[in-house]
Amino acid sequence: VTRGAEVAAAARRVVKVELGERAYEIIVERGLLERCGRLIAEAVPGADRFVIITNTAVGRLYGPKITAGLRAAGFDVSTIEVPAGERYKSLTRADKIYGRLLEMGVDRQAVIVALGGGVIGDLAGFVAGTYMRGVPFVQIPTSLLAQVDSSVGGKTAVNHRLAKNVIGVFNQPRLVLIDPEALRTLPSRELRAGLSEIIKYGFIGGEPLLSKIRSLLPLRRDLDGFPSIIVDCCRFKAQIVVEDELDTGRRAILNYGHTIGHALEAVSSYRQYNHGEAIAVGMLGAAKIAQAAGMLDQAAVDDHRNLLKAAGLPLTIKDVDPMVIYRHLELDKKRARGRNRLVLLDGIGRPVIREVEGPPIIGAIEGLAEV
Ligand SMILES: NC(=O)c1ccc[n+]([C@@H]2O[C@H](COP(=O)([O-])OP(=O)(O)OC[C@H]3O[C@@H](n4cnc5c(N)ncnc54)[C@H](O)[C@@H]3O)[C@@H](O)[C@H]2O)c1
Repeated sequence: VTRGAEVAAAARRVVKVELGERAYEIIVERGLLERCGRLIAEAVPGADRFVIITNTAVGRLYGPKITAGLRAAGFDVSTIEVPAGERYKSLTRADKIYGRLLEMGVDRQAVIVALGGGVIGDLAGFVAGTYMRGVPFVQIPTSLLAQVDSSVGGKTAVNHRLAKNVIGVFNQPRLVLIDPEALRTLPSRELRAGLSEIIKYGFIGGEPLLSKIRSLLPLRRDLDGFPSIIVDCCRFKAQIVVEDELDTGRRAILNYGHTIGHALEAVSSYRQYNHGEAIAVGMLGAAKIAQAAGMLDQAAVDDHRNLLKAAGLPLTIKDVDPMVIYRHLELDKKRARGRNRLVLLDGIGRPVIREVEGPPIIGAIEGLAEV
Protein backbone atom coordinates (compact mmCIF):
# COMPACT_ATOMS: atom_id res chain seq x y z
CA VAL A 1 0.00 0.00 0.00
CA THR A 2 1.42 3.36 -1.01
CA ARG A 3 1.61 6.25 1.42
CA GLY A 4 -0.94 8.13 -0.72
CA ALA A 5 -3.43 5.30 -0.42
CA GLU A 6 -2.92 5.15 3.36
CA VAL A 7 -3.61 8.84 3.75
CA ALA A 8 -6.68 8.50 1.56
CA ALA A 9 -8.01 5.55 3.53
CA ALA A 10 -7.58 7.55 6.75
CA ALA A 11 -9.74 10.28 5.26
CA ARG A 12 -12.42 7.83 4.21
CA ARG A 13 -15.66 8.04 6.12
CA VAL A 14 -18.41 5.49 5.89
CA VAL A 15 -22.06 5.87 6.80
CA LYS A 16 -24.11 2.69 6.94
CA VAL A 17 -27.75 2.72 5.94
CA GLU A 18 -29.06 -0.09 8.10
CA LEU A 19 -31.93 -1.43 6.05
CA GLY A 20 -31.51 -5.16 6.66
CA GLU A 21 -31.34 -6.98 3.32
CA ARG A 22 -31.22 -3.65 1.57
CA ALA A 23 -28.44 -2.21 3.76
CA TYR A 24 -25.68 -0.30 2.02
CA GLU A 25 -22.75 1.99 2.63
CA ILE A 26 -22.22 5.61 1.78
CA ILE A 27 -18.50 6.24 1.34
CA VAL A 28 -17.25 9.81 1.49
CA GLU A 29 -13.66 10.46 0.51
CA ARG A 30 -11.79 13.15 -1.35
CA GLY A 31 -10.39 11.80 -4.61
CA LEU A 32 -12.58 8.69 -4.43
CA LEU A 33 -13.51 8.85 -8.11
CA GLU A 34 -9.89 8.15 -8.99
CA ARG A 35 -9.99 4.80 -7.26
CA CYS A 36 -13.53 3.55 -7.13
CA GLY A 37 -13.46 0.67 -9.65
CA ARG A 38 -12.96 -2.09 -7.14
CA LEU A 39 -15.40 -0.60 -4.61
CA ILE A 40 -18.16 -0.53 -7.21
CA ALA A 41 -17.43 -4.07 -8.29
CA GLU A 42 -17.32 -5.36 -4.71
CA ALA A 43 -20.71 -3.84 -3.92
CA VAL A 44 -22.38 -6.26 -6.29
CA PRO A 45 -20.63 -9.63 -6.19
CA GLY A 46 -21.12 -11.62 -9.35
CA ALA A 47 -21.72 -8.62 -11.58
CA ASP A 48 -19.86 -8.83 -14.86
CA ARG A 49 -20.93 -5.73 -16.61
CA PHE A 50 -21.45 -2.07 -15.71
CA VAL A 51 -23.52 0.53 -17.50
CA ILE A 52 -22.83 4.12 -16.53
CA ILE A 53 -25.78 6.45 -16.96
CA THR A 54 -24.69 10.07 -16.90
CA ASN A 55 -25.30 13.37 -18.62
CA THR A 56 -23.13 14.93 -21.29
CA ALA A 57 -21.52 17.49 -18.95
CA VAL A 58 -20.73 15.19 -16.01
CA GLY A 59 -19.89 12.29 -18.32
CA ARG A 60 -17.21 14.36 -20.02
CA LEU A 61 -15.67 15.36 -16.68
CA TYR A 62 -15.83 12.13 -14.70
CA GLY A 63 -16.96 9.31 -17.01
CA PRO A 64 -13.45 8.35 -18.15
CA LYS A 65 -12.22 8.00 -14.54
CA ILE A 66 -14.99 5.61 -13.55
CA THR A 67 -14.70 3.67 -16.80
CA ALA A 68 -10.95 3.33 -16.41
CA GLY A 69 -11.30 2.18 -12.80
CA LEU A 70 -13.81 -0.52 -13.67
CA ARG A 71 -11.88 -1.67 -16.75
CA ALA A 72 -8.71 -1.89 -14.66
CA ALA A 73 -10.63 -4.21 -12.34
CA GLY A 74 -11.39 -6.35 -15.40
CA PHE A 75 -14.99 -5.39 -16.13
CA ASP A 76 -16.97 -4.61 -19.22
CA VAL A 77 -18.18 -1.00 -19.11
CA SER A 78 -20.58 0.93 -21.35
CA THR A 79 -21.99 4.43 -21.03
CA ILE A 80 -25.36 5.91 -21.83
CA GLU A 81 -25.45 9.69 -21.97
CA VAL A 82 -28.51 11.84 -21.45
CA PRO A 83 -28.63 15.57 -22.21
CA ALA A 84 -28.36 17.75 -19.07
CA GLY A 85 -31.56 19.10 -17.57
CA GLU A 86 -34.60 18.35 -15.45
CA ARG A 87 -36.79 17.91 -18.50
CA TYR A 88 -34.93 14.73 -19.39
CA LYS A 89 -36.10 13.15 -16.14
CA SER A 90 -39.01 11.74 -18.11
CA LEU A 91 -40.63 8.49 -19.15
CA THR A 92 -39.69 9.33 -22.73
CA ARG A 93 -36.03 9.40 -21.78
CA ALA A 94 -36.37 6.29 -19.59
CA ASP A 95 -37.87 4.52 -22.61
CA LYS A 96 -34.89 5.52 -24.75
CA ILE A 97 -32.55 4.13 -22.11
CA TYR A 98 -34.50 0.83 -21.93
CA GLY A 99 -34.06 0.61 -25.69
CA ARG A 100 -30.32 1.13 -25.48
CA LEU A 101 -30.00 -1.43 -22.69
CA LEU A 102 -31.89 -4.00 -24.76
CA GLU A 103 -29.83 -3.28 -27.87
CA MET A 104 -26.66 -3.74 -25.83
CA GLY A 105 -27.97 -7.07 -24.53
CA VAL A 106 -27.84 -5.93 -20.91
CA ASP A 107 -29.30 -8.52 -18.56
CA ARG A 108 -29.79 -8.82 -14.80
CA GLN A 109 -26.11 -9.61 -14.21
CA ALA A 110 -25.35 -5.99 -15.05
CA VAL A 111 -25.10 -3.05 -12.67
CA ILE A 112 -26.24 0.46 -13.45
CA VAL A 113 -23.99 3.24 -12.24
CA ALA A 114 -25.72 6.62 -11.84
CA LEU A 115 -23.07 9.30 -12.32
CA GLY A 116 -24.31 12.86 -11.92
CA GLY A 117 -26.62 15.16 -10.01
CA GLY A 118 -30.07 14.42 -8.68
CA VAL A 119 -31.64 14.33 -12.11
CA ILE A 120 -29.40 11.48 -13.22
CA GLY A 121 -29.67 9.71 -9.86
CA ASP A 122 -33.47 9.76 -9.96
CA LEU A 123 -33.68 8.77 -13.63
CA ALA A 124 -31.01 6.05 -13.56
CA GLY A 125 -32.36 4.71 -10.26
CA PHE A 126 -35.83 4.51 -11.78
CA VAL A 127 -34.53 2.73 -14.86
CA ALA A 128 -32.56 0.32 -12.65
CA GLY A 129 -35.64 -0.38 -10.56
CA THR A 130 -37.83 -1.17 -13.54
CA TYR A 131 -35.62 -2.62 -16.29
CA MET A 132 -36.13 -6.41 -16.23
CA ARG A 133 -37.97 -5.94 -12.91
CA GLY A 134 -34.87 -4.48 -11.38
CA VAL A 135 -31.11 -4.57 -11.76
CA PRO A 136 -28.71 -3.44 -9.02
CA PHE A 137 -27.47 0.14 -9.09
CA VAL A 138 -24.80 2.30 -7.55
CA GLN A 139 -25.01 6.03 -6.96
CA ILE A 140 -22.09 8.34 -7.69
CA PRO A 141 -23.57 11.75 -6.91
CA THR A 142 -21.58 14.70 -8.23
CA SER A 143 -23.68 17.73 -7.25
CA LEU A 144 -23.80 18.92 -3.64
CA LEU A 145 -27.56 18.41 -3.56
CA ALA A 146 -27.18 14.82 -4.72
CA GLN A 147 -24.31 14.19 -2.28
CA VAL A 148 -26.26 15.31 0.77
CA ASP A 149 -29.75 14.33 -0.22
CA SER A 150 -31.02 12.72 -3.40
CA SER A 151 -28.51 9.84 -3.70
CA VAL A 152 -29.44 8.53 -0.25
CA GLY A 153 -32.72 6.88 0.67
CA GLY A 154 -33.90 5.10 -2.44
CA LYS A 155 -36.47 7.49 -3.82
CA THR A 156 -36.29 7.34 -7.59
CA ALA A 157 -38.67 8.86 -10.08
CA VAL A 158 -39.32 10.60 -13.34
CA ASN A 159 -41.59 13.58 -13.86
CA HIS A 160 -45.00 13.53 -15.48
CA ARG A 161 -46.21 16.36 -17.70
CA LEU A 162 -48.63 17.32 -14.92
CA ALA A 163 -46.39 16.95 -11.87
CA LYS A 164 -42.83 16.33 -10.68
CA ASN A 165 -41.57 13.00 -9.35
CA VAL A 166 -44.93 11.24 -9.57
CA ILE A 167 -43.86 8.13 -11.52
CA GLY A 168 -41.35 6.23 -9.46
CA VAL A 169 -40.26 3.38 -7.26
CA PHE A 170 -38.50 3.02 -3.93
CA ASN A 171 -35.24 1.45 -4.94
CA GLN A 172 -32.22 1.51 -2.66
CA PRO A 173 -28.78 1.63 -4.27
CA ARG A 174 -26.14 -1.00 -3.40
CA LEU A 175 -23.57 1.66 -2.67
CA VAL A 176 -23.20 5.45 -2.67
CA LEU A 177 -19.77 6.86 -3.53
CA ILE A 178 -19.23 10.51 -2.73
CA ASP A 179 -16.17 12.41 -3.84
CA PRO A 180 -16.30 15.99 -2.52
CA GLU A 181 -13.55 16.88 -5.03
CA ALA A 182 -16.19 16.65 -7.75
CA LEU A 183 -17.70 19.83 -6.30
CA ARG A 184 -14.76 21.80 -7.71
CA THR A 185 -16.33 21.79 -11.13
CA LEU A 186 -19.88 22.41 -9.91
CA PRO A 187 -21.23 25.86 -10.88
CA SER A 188 -21.58 28.17 -7.85
CA ARG A 189 -25.32 28.45 -8.23
CA GLU A 190 -25.62 24.66 -7.97
CA LEU A 191 -23.31 24.65 -4.96
CA ARG A 192 -25.63 27.13 -3.23
CA ALA A 193 -28.64 24.98 -4.12
CA GLY A 194 -27.03 22.07 -2.29
CA LEU A 195 -26.22 24.34 0.60
CA SER A 196 -29.90 25.10 0.91
CA GLU A 197 -30.61 21.40 1.62
CA ILE A 198 -27.72 21.37 4.10
CA ILE A 199 -29.24 24.36 5.90
CA LYS A 200 -32.52 22.45 5.93
CA TYR A 201 -30.83 19.61 7.83
CA GLY A 202 -29.42 22.23 10.20
CA PHE A 203 -32.82 23.67 11.03
CA ILE A 204 -34.54 20.33 11.47
CA GLY A 205 -31.56 18.67 13.18
CA GLY A 206 -30.51 21.64 15.32
CA GLU A 207 -27.15 21.78 17.10
CA PRO A 208 -24.32 20.84 16.69
CA LEU A 209 -24.93 20.58 12.94
CA LEU A 210 -26.22 24.14 12.71
CA SER A 211 -23.03 25.64 14.16
CA LYS A 212 -20.94 23.57 11.81
CA ILE A 213 -22.94 24.89 8.87
CA ARG A 214 -22.44 28.46 10.08
CA SER A 215 -18.70 27.88 10.05
CA LEU A 216 -18.89 27.09 6.30
CA LEU A 217 -20.24 30.55 5.57
CA PRO A 218 -19.51 32.76 3.75
CA LEU A 219 -18.75 30.07 1.25
CA ARG A 220 -15.14 29.48 0.26
CA ARG A 221 -14.14 27.44 -2.73
CA ASP A 222 -11.48 25.45 -0.86
CA LEU A 223 -14.15 22.88 0.09
CA ASP A 224 -12.29 21.93 3.27
CA GLY A 225 -15.38 22.00 5.45
CA PHE A 226 -17.49 19.97 3.06
CA PRO A 227 -16.50 16.32 3.57
CA SER A 228 -17.44 16.44 7.22
CA ILE A 229 -20.76 18.23 6.63
CA ILE A 230 -21.64 15.82 3.83
CA VAL A 231 -21.05 12.91 6.22
CA ASP A 232 -23.25 14.55 8.88
CA CYS A 233 -26.07 15.16 6.41
CA CYS A 234 -25.91 11.63 5.01
CA ARG A 235 -25.92 10.21 8.52
CA PHE A 236 -28.91 12.33 9.45
CA LYS A 237 -30.85 11.35 6.35
CA ALA A 238 -29.86 7.67 6.66
CA GLN A 239 -31.24 7.56 10.17
CA ILE A 240 -34.60 8.96 9.11
CA VAL A 241 -34.76 6.65 6.09
CA VAL A 242 -34.11 3.65 8.35
CA GLU A 243 -37.00 4.73 10.59
CA ASP A 244 -39.40 5.34 7.73
CA GLU A 245 -38.11 3.94 4.45
CA LEU A 246 -41.40 4.21 2.58
CA ASP A 247 -42.20 7.75 3.69
CA THR A 248 -45.39 7.12 5.61
CA GLY A 249 -44.45 9.11 8.70
CA ARG A 250 -41.34 10.75 10.04
CA ARG A 251 -39.51 10.98 6.70
CA ALA A 252 -41.84 13.87 5.88
CA ILE A 253 -39.71 16.17 8.07
CA LEU A 254 -37.13 16.13 5.28
CA ASN A 255 -39.62 18.23 3.36
CA TYR A 256 -39.03 21.28 5.54
CA GLY A 257 -39.47 24.33 3.31
CA HIS A 258 -40.67 22.17 0.43
CA THR A 259 -44.38 22.98 0.48
CA ILE A 260 -44.06 26.64 -0.45
CA GLY A 261 -40.80 25.81 -2.25
CA HIS A 262 -42.35 23.30 -4.62
CA ALA A 263 -45.21 25.65 -5.39
CA LEU A 264 -42.77 28.46 -6.15
CA GLU A 265 -40.72 26.21 -8.43
CA ALA A 266 -43.82 25.05 -10.25
CA VAL A 267 -45.45 28.43 -10.79
CA SER A 268 -42.20 29.87 -12.07
CA SER A 269 -42.06 26.92 -14.50
CA TYR A 270 -38.84 25.55 -12.91
CA ARG A 271 -36.89 28.37 -14.54
CA GLN A 272 -36.53 31.35 -12.26
CA TYR A 273 -35.80 29.40 -9.08
CA ASN A 274 -33.89 26.15 -8.91
CA HIS A 275 -34.92 23.61 -6.28
CA GLY A 276 -32.51 24.81 -3.60
CA GLU A 277 -33.41 28.46 -4.14
CA ALA A 278 -37.11 27.70 -3.96
CA ILE A 279 -36.81 25.77 -0.72
CA ALA A 280 -34.72 28.56 0.78
CA VAL A 281 -37.68 30.89 0.26
CA GLY A 282 -39.96 28.06 1.44
CA MET A 283 -38.03 27.63 4.70
CA LEU A 284 -38.30 31.33 5.47
CA GLY A 285 -42.03 31.08 4.72
CA ALA A 286 -42.37 28.09 7.05
CA ALA A 287 -40.51 30.00 9.75
CA LYS A 288 -42.94 32.90 9.43
CA ILE A 289 -45.91 30.53 9.68
CA ALA A 290 -44.39 28.93 12.78
CA GLN A 291 -43.82 32.38 14.25
CA ALA A 292 -47.48 33.29 13.64
CA ALA A 293 -48.43 30.07 15.44
CA GLY A 294 -46.22 30.97 18.41
CA MET A 295 -43.80 28.12 17.72
CA LEU A 296 -40.74 30.18 16.75
CA ASP A 297 -39.59 33.53 18.08
CA GLN A 298 -38.30 36.47 16.08
CA ALA A 299 -34.68 35.45 16.71
CA ALA A 300 -35.30 32.06 15.07
CA VAL A 301 -36.86 33.71 12.02
CA ASP A 302 -33.91 36.12 11.83
CA ASP A 303 -31.61 33.12 12.06
CA HIS A 304 -33.29 31.63 8.98
CA ARG A 305 -32.92 34.90 7.11
CA ASN A 306 -29.28 35.42 8.07
CA LEU A 307 -28.10 31.92 7.35
CA LEU A 308 -29.84 31.69 3.97
CA LYS A 309 -28.59 35.14 3.05
CA ALA A 310 -25.01 34.26 4.01
CA ALA A 311 -25.33 31.22 1.73
CA GLY A 312 -26.25 33.54 -1.15
CA LEU A 313 -29.77 32.13 -1.39
CA PRO A 314 -32.86 34.17 -2.24
CA LEU A 315 -35.24 35.26 0.51
CA THR A 316 -38.05 36.75 -1.50
CA ILE A 317 -40.61 35.93 -4.13
CA LYS A 318 -40.07 38.00 -7.23
CA ASP A 319 -42.33 38.50 -10.23
CA VAL A 320 -44.86 35.95 -9.02
CA ASP A 321 -48.29 36.78 -7.61
CA PRO A 322 -48.50 35.34 -4.05
CA MET A 323 -52.06 34.16 -4.67
CA VAL A 324 -50.91 32.11 -7.67
CA ILE A 325 -48.50 30.32 -5.33
CA TYR A 326 -51.21 29.82 -2.77
CA ARG A 327 -53.58 28.36 -5.33
CA HIS A 328 -50.86 25.96 -6.37
CA LEU A 329 -50.60 24.79 -2.77
CA GLU A 330 -54.22 23.71 -3.01
CA LEU A 331 -52.98 21.02 -5.36
CA ASP A 332 -50.37 19.90 -2.89
CA LYS A 333 -50.39 16.17 -2.67
CA LYS A 334 -49.84 16.25 1.08
CA ARG A 335 -53.02 18.21 1.56
CA ALA A 336 -55.36 16.55 4.00
CA ARG A 337 -58.94 17.31 5.00
CA GLY A 338 -59.06 20.69 3.35
CA ARG A 339 -55.89 21.97 4.96
CA ASN A 340 -52.24 21.98 4.04
CA ARG A 341 -49.91 19.72 5.98
CA LEU A 342 -46.66 21.54 6.58
CA VAL A 343 -43.41 20.75 8.32
CA LEU A 344 -42.95 23.47 10.93
CA LEU A 345 -40.38 23.97 13.63
CA ASP A 346 -41.57 23.98 17.20
CA GLY A 347 -38.22 25.53 18.05
CA ILE A 348 -35.02 25.07 16.03
CA GLY A 349 -34.23 21.36 15.70
CA ARG A 350 -37.77 20.28 16.55
CA PRO A 351 -39.69 19.55 13.35
CA VAL A 352 -43.37 18.70 13.60
CA ILE A 353 -46.06 18.15 11.01
CA ARG A 354 -49.02 20.46 11.32
CA GLU A 355 -52.18 21.09 9.41
CA VAL A 356 -52.31 24.78 8.67
CA GLU A 357 -55.30 26.90 7.58
CA GLY A 358 -55.13 29.17 4.56
CA PRO A 359 -54.78 32.63 6.18
CA PRO A 360 -51.41 32.13 7.92
CA ILE A 361 -50.02 30.56 4.75
CA ILE A 362 -51.27 33.45 2.63
CA GLY A 363 -49.87 35.90 5.18
CA ALA A 364 -46.44 34.26 5.04
CA ILE A 365 -46.34 34.14 1.24
CA GLU A 366 -47.39 37.78 1.02
CA GLY A 367 -44.67 38.62 3.51
CA LEU A 368 -42.10 37.02 1.20
CA ALA A 369 -43.23 38.91 -1.89
CA GLU A 370 -40.86 41.61 -3.07
CA VAL A 371 -42.72 44.90 -3.30
N1 LIG B 1 -34.52 11.20 -4.82
C1 LIG B 1 -34.52 12.10 -3.88
O1 LIG B 1 -34.64 11.79 -2.70
C2 LIG B 1 -34.37 13.54 -4.25
C3 LIG B 1 -34.15 14.50 -3.25
C4 LIG B 1 -33.94 15.82 -3.64
C5 LIG B 1 -33.96 16.16 -4.98
N2 LIG B 1 -34.17 15.20 -5.92
C6 LIG B 1 -34.16 15.52 -7.35
O2 LIG B 1 -32.85 15.94 -7.69
C7 LIG B 1 -32.92 16.79 -8.83
C8 LIG B 1 -32.03 17.97 -8.61
O3 LIG B 1 -30.70 17.52 -8.47
P1 LIG B 1 -29.47 18.49 -8.71
O4 LIG B 1 -29.69 19.74 -7.96
O5 LIG B 1 -28.27 17.69 -8.49
O6 LIG B 1 -29.67 18.90 -10.23
P2 LIG B 1 -29.00 18.30 -11.57
O7 LIG B 1 -28.90 16.85 -11.53
O8 LIG B 1 -29.73 18.93 -12.68
O9 LIG B 1 -27.55 18.90 -11.51
C9 LIG B 1 -27.38 20.29 -11.56
C10 LIG B 1 -26.43 20.70 -12.68
O10 LIG B 1 -25.11 20.49 -12.25
C11 LIG B 1 -24.39 19.74 -13.20
N3 LIG B 1 -23.41 18.97 -12.46
C12 LIG B 1 -23.63 17.98 -11.56
N4 LIG B 1 -22.47 17.62 -10.99
C13 LIG B 1 -21.50 18.38 -11.53
C14 LIG B 1 -20.10 18.48 -11.33
N5 LIG B 1 -19.46 17.77 -10.40
N6 LIG B 1 -19.40 19.38 -12.08
C15 LIG B 1 -20.05 20.16 -12.99
N7 LIG B 1 -21.36 20.11 -13.20
C16 LIG B 1 -22.09 19.24 -12.48
C17 LIG B 1 -25.43 18.94 -13.92
O11 LIG B 1 -25.00 18.61 -15.22
C18 LIG B 1 -26.61 19.91 -13.97
O12 LIG B 1 -26.48 20.79 -15.05
C19 LIG B 1 -34.38 17.13 -9.01
O13 LIG B 1 -34.88 16.39 -10.11
C20 LIG B 1 -35.04 16.67 -7.73
O14 LIG B 1 -36.37 16.24 -7.92
C21 LIG B 1 -34.37 13.91 -5.57
